[in-house]
Amino acid sequence: MDFSLNEDHKMVRDMARDFAQQVLKPGVIERDTKGEYPKEQVKAMADLGFFGVLVDPEYGGTGMDYISYSLIMEELSKVDNSCSVIVSAHNSLACWGIQKYGTEEQKQKYLPRLASGEIIGAFCLSEPEAGSDATSQTTEAIDMVDHYVLNGTKNWITNGTTAGVYVVIAQTNKDKRHKGINAFIVDADLKGVTYGQKEDKLGIRSSDTSSVMFQDVKVPKENRIGEEGFGFSFAMETLDGGRIGIASQAMGIASGSYELALQYSHERITFGKPINHHQAISFKLADMAIQVEMARTFLHKTCWLKDNKKDINRAAAMAKTFCSEVAMAIATEAVQVHGGYGFVKEYHVERLMRDAKITQIYEGTSEIQRLVISRSIIKGEPYLD
Ligand code: CAA
Repeated sequence: MDFSLNEDHKMVRDMARDFAQQVLKPGVIERDTKGEYPKEQVKAMADLGFFGVLVDPEYGGTGMDYISYSLIMEELSKVDNSCSVIVSAHNSLACWGIQKYGTEEQKQKYLPRLASGEIIGAFCLSEPEAGSDATSQTTEAIDMVDHYVLNGTKNWITNGTTAGVYVVIAQTNKDKRHKGINAFIVDADLKGVTYGQKEDKLGIRSSDTSSVMFQDVKVPKENRIGEEGFGFSFAMETLDGGRIGIASQAMGIASGSYELALQYSHERITFGKPINHHQAISFKLADMAIQVEMARTFLHKTCWLKDNKKDINRAAAMAKTFCSEVAMAIATEAVQVHGGYGFVKEYHVERLMRDAKITQIYEGTSEIQRLVISRSIIKGEPYLD
């Protein structure tokens, strides 16, 4: 068993690390404070190919594996989680599904523009009354033979106001419950597509989260993804991969907070010595190091499962739950290590602590992840086979 990263992985990680430290870090506090969308930074990430990570080269992407994707997400998330969530929702929730289940025409029409970052993608599943209970979709797509008419409101949509294309989950036959749900690719410039205000959030403050409304939107028949009734399974499988993206984001918050705490503990002198010479602090650092190592090891195993085409349903839920809980715990401890300085913006850890919270909520709350995991265990589903 070889746990080392290969040279390509190290190169991608180092490139993302340099980019995050040099391009994202200056200005991150100001963007967060103002809740300002990182337009220039998104353009810079597009130039580096971060929007085509999971797209095959024949459609303009870089076709990287999930370990690479996770490493990029971790490095971006050490610094700017508003930027990393834009990358994650775009790659995992919009591009991946089109790449895996789209028709050749859909792939050719959408993937090159998505992969280059010319347009940003978003995934519309949650509704005002249907977040965790995803089968209770009220957004409706009525089949008009040559097109569908889409009506409904989606909530908490990452890239909601900036996306050029939405992957929308809607019901076509309410009586059939999850078997009457379909997924559609919807261009943002279609008549009847509007969006609400950008949400004012606790964390990831400069990312674009909004509701998206569809009113009598004519969606071409050829924009449905997969066979009639495939939409719910499609959404669930998409979210399985999405949870790797969010687990990686949480991983970055955890490792970034730990690194900041470690660095500060060398610099800060109390009672005549660096604070990491006091056991009260050094033991905290040891606990953080253990959790970072455990979380990353399991996260990379989950990426390995995905890269090797294994079912990741249980593993992705476990990785997201564990990494997000570790992120919350370590970011909180990092603030504690910094003392009063941790409570002010300049030292970055308070932002990471605020950002950590959302990783326990979006793409399925920790409670939903436990539901997924426990069902899989109780059913006795094969895990590594
Ligand atoms: N892959 C493929 N198919 C799957 C699947 C998976 N991972 N999970 C379930 N399915 C299939 C099942 O096999 C079943 O199909 P059959 O009846 O044909 O066998 C069907 O889907 C229904 O499955 P369940 O009975 O398990 O469905 P459920 O109603 O009990 O719900 C749930 C399961 C796990 C609770 C699910 O609703 C869920 O994951 N909810 C959370 C949704 C979520 O993550 N929302 C966040 C949205 S994205 C977001 O946050 C916005 C953003 O921009 C970041």
